[in-house]
Amino acid sequence: MKGPVVLKLGGSAITVKEEPFKPDLRAIKRLAGEIASSGVRDLIVVHGGGSFGHPLADKYGIHEGFKHEGQLRGLAETHMAMEELNRLVVEAMIDEDLPAVPIPPISCFITKSGRIHRAFLEPVRALMGLKSIPVLYGDVAVDEEKGFCILSGDQIVAYLALELGASRVVLGLQVDGVFTKDPLRHPDAKLVEVLRTSELDKVEAGGSSAVDVTGGMRAKLAEMAPVAEAGIPVFLTNAKKPGNVLKALRGEKTRGTLLTR
Ligand code: IPE
Repeated sequence: MKGPVVLKLGGSAITVKEEPFKPDLRAIKRLAGEIASSGVRDLIVVHGGGSFGHPLADKYGIHEGFKHEGQLRGLAETHMAMEELNRLVVEAMIDEDLPAVPIPPISCFITKSGRIHRAFLEPVRALMGLKSIPVLYGDVAVDEEKGFCILSGDQIVAYLALELGASRVVLGLQVDGVFTKDPLRHPDAKLVEVLRTSELDKVEAGGSSAVDVTGGMRAKLAEMAPVAEAGIPVFLTNAKKPGNVLKALRGEKTRGTLLTR
């Protein structure tokens, strides 16, 4: 299939969630190795913030938009924390001889009420034309209405997948995929292997669907729905478990949820 693969590395998969600013260096190194072994080179990587992005963003209320000048320090600090994590990811990829190049989203996206409104993707396209692998991340962004906001890696993934005509999206998470019930509370919860976007509507309408999509996962699926609707398959898998991202990148079967139209 033509078109790049867009890979998201969830923040919780590459940082230690409970400890602010603690990277999971072993996971980052292993995942860089899995990307290299997959042989997929027509690729864009987007990573999340985990314990690097969220504590500072919360502390300064970045997601609320501009309220007072005191937040400007937080805007800078949040971006710099994400740059630090990005450097670790890119370095690990370069160590695997992958031609990774950091692309700071604050420099190429402008949002309006938290949604991407304008984008300058020429550098991304040009780098991909050269067979480089752009590496973006959830970041702070300038917002036309709110002054600034948090731009999630998921929103970037969806935008890039649609804009660049991705062949596939792989979301590397800290959970196996979408479950029939919240797996933390219900030991009998089952993994949903194939989820259609039409079933997602049923879930969101509060219908008696078998699929229980909680909190963060619901937002993630809502973000990915237009991608799947456009005919780009979105595969969710656990990046904390070795081998999943490797297989998903190769298009081989592994444990996870396929979101499709
Ligand atoms: C968050 O990015 C970035 C910041 C808080 C600056 P994501 O929303 O993509 O991060 P994860 O994957 O949920 O950690």
